[in-house]
Amino acid sequence: MFTTPTPLRRLFGPVRPRWQRRGLPTSNDREPIGERFGLLVCRLSLVALLAIVSFGREVSGGELSPAEKGFRNLRTQHYLPPDFDEEVFAELWTTWGEPERTEAANATDAARRKLTFEYYGLIPAPGADRQPDYAQPALGYAPGEKGAWHMTCLACHGGQVAGQPMAGLPNSNISLQTLTEDVRAVKLRLKKPFGHLDYGSLQLPLSATNGTTNSVMFGVVLATFRRPDMSVDLKRTVPPLVHHDMDAPPFWNVKYKTSLYADGFAPKTARVIMQFMMIPRNSAETMQDWEPQFAEILAWIESLEAPKYPGPIDEPLAANGRMVFEEHCAKCHGTYGANGRYLQQTIDIRELGTDAVRLEALTPDFRRWMKEGWMSHYGEDQVIEEPAGYVAPPLHGIWASAPYLHNGSVPTLWHLLHPDKRPMVWKRTAAGYDQARVGLEVTEYPAVPDDVAEPRDRRRYFDTQLFGKSAAGHTFPDVLSPAEKQAVLEYLKTL
Ligand code: HEC
Ligand code: HEC
Repeated sequence: MFTTPTPLRRLFGPVRPRWQRRGLPTSNDREPIGERFGLLVCRLSLVALLAIVSFGREVSGGELSPAEKGFRNLRTQHYLPPDFDEEVFAELWTTWGEPERTEAANATDAARRKLTFEYYGLIPAPGADRQPDYAQPALGYAPGEKGAWHMTCLACHGGQVAGQPMAGLPNSNISLQTLTEDVRAVKLRLKKPFGHLDYGSLQLPLSATNGTTNSVMFGVVLATFRRPDMSVDLKRTVPPLVHHDMDAPPFWNVKYKTSLYADGFAPKTARVIMQFMMIPRNSAETMQDWEPQFAEILAWIESLEAPKYPGPIDEPLAANGRMVFEEHCAKCHGTYGANGRYLQQTIDIRELGTDAVRLEALTPDFRRWMKEGWMSHYGEDQVIEEPAGYVAPPLHGIWASAPYLHNGSVPTLWHLLHPDKRPMVWKRTAAGYDQARVGLEVTEYPAVPDDVAEPRDRRRYFDTQLFGKSAAGHTFPDVLSPAEKQAVLEYLKTL
């Protein structure tokens, strides 16, 4: 289930799903897992979303809480100009290859729209009947005038687990590069003007693998045209860029962290999370005006709770796993449960051994720009200029946030625990969730098959041979016996 933020609990009282009320389901339960995951876990996330969006004000009969306002901002405000409109969206399928194109051509309008969401990894927003609503723009876009779609943070930070939407979960499906290419092709044909992303993607790749994005470099490019005080200076030249894709982390862990991002270099403030808004047309004054709205967005982010694992858990095995975890993993990842304690730590990249590209891609110049400017209240908030490695993240709700590691290179927790069995290349199956290995259901390959030629088709494969995509490192589980690994895997489901 999706534990609702406190204000909602106040509104609705404690909501507990059926399976929790009658005790944890056992493996003998006949209920198909599809139902458990699909209907039970996440219907509540839709309830939460919808409650905030539509009912919040009415039910509480007054002011929304800052967190509720934050979520409403994300669904309604236009921080960026629109990327495209309904007319363009309806034509996107005409750019596809076969067999998808014929399938779309023969489908009803409604079915074709759903196919279009799925093709680009767009997550449906919840509708009035609390079901995924494909009629409105996707969760990651605020609806605008004349059918416009304005991208928001939820494009990357609103995801789907086992087929169901959840705000704050990273979108592990998004195909931003393919979407933008197709939008551009349709706009050319319809003689519609290009948007900032259409131009931007001509200069820099948006993603080389679906489900991940080159977002760290977006930030560097946008920062280039800002003086430290946020005023715009278009004469500056973009520094050499190190393009690499990242997997966004889940929002529900932000409240346990003292600083932000994979290397923990940035302070956790409203200003820092506004980086995506730094397109030149948003002036320094606009950025300042929006700061309170982003303080609300940060309040929403910090109100989120990790979703509970909805499937069966072998409790005795998990209890064993807890002991193993506390001996081998807790020193970096903290402890969980009633007296859980997490102290954020950065682990030296030489000890950690995971892909170092992200760490090196953020130049000292960029970090200094943040340290010296408005973003960090002119150095009042701590900016770490030379982080030694990556942060050991909190593991709440880790079952839901596959793929793993900062670059999203490891598809399941089982693979994380078996460093030498991680696939060289993997591709998601349509069905989705792997209960046995806990994470994405994937097919493994020794290499991307030769007959996959089109770049958009190659982006469906996670190729760990590509730059910045290594699945190596974090070999800490190697000291565990097979039985201990099995126990830890079971325990991780309980976090
Ligand atoms: C194009 C995809 C994308 C969009 C849009 C996006 N983010 Fe992110 N976000 C990411 C990625 C990827 C990371 C990880 C970056 C890193 O660690 O270096 C991230 C990291 C974060 C973090 C740090 C979380 C942590 O645990 O350290 C926060 C907070 C955040 N984003 C908030 C936002 C907000 C607020 C917006 C909208 C203004 C936004 N993001 C828009 C992709 C995106
Ligand atoms: C020395 C510190 C350290 C130890 C010990 C350690 N980890 Fe980690 N762990 C990290 C760091 C740092 C990362 C982030 C690495 C990255 O993203 O490149 C990480 C990442 C992870 C992730 C992926 C998180 C995500 O959101 O993608 C999981 C799961 C995990 N560790 C589980 C474990 C387990 C289980 C153990 C014990 C067997 C363990 N770790 C031991 C430091 C540690």
